[in-house]
Amino acid sequence: MSHFMLDFRLNGTDRTELITGGETLLALLRYRLDTTSIKQGCRQGTCGACTVIVDGEPRLACITLAATCEGGAIETADALPGSDGLHPLQQAFMDHFAAQCGFCTTGMLMAAKALLDTNPNPSREDVVDAIGGNVCRCTGYEPIIEAVLAASGGTGARASRRA
Ligand code: FES
Ligand code: FES
Repeated sequence: MSHFMLDFRLNGTDRTELITGGETLLALLRYRLDTTSIKQGCRQGTCGACTVIVDGEPRLACITLAATCEGGAIETADALPGSDGLHPLQQAFMDHFAAQCGFCTTGMLMAAKALLDTNPNPSREDVVDAIGGNVCRCTGYEPIIEAVLAASGGTGARASRRA
């Protein structure tokens, strides 16, 4: 089995780790580096629980080879709170009761952050599309959509407030 060194940035900190060629990002981050905000659900790319952001794009850590992240900047939900408190998405999830059991929540937050980082004014359809690969068994999705819209300044948020 081949081993090699992987250089990457995890939540703003430079890391170098010895990995195997077949190691997934989920295995590396959750099980070797204790980044337990990344949840393991289906392990086959269908539930979204393991969503992280790599170089600004949402990625499913369970089907992403760590080796493909050489030199990459990886963000997880651990880094969402700032020095002045919760990230606006986290606050909106609380305000809109968008987390129940919480298993999907970190993946939802990262999918939503990837959207708002590139589109701070999303429509409702944009939000639905962005979280479309993330499964939630508890909320019925509406509170999550409302929370993402509330955390944004988008047209969807204004329409939602008028309704
Ligand atoms: Fe990665 Fe389900 S655990 S998509
Ligand atoms: Fe339970 Fe989403 S809050 S799966």
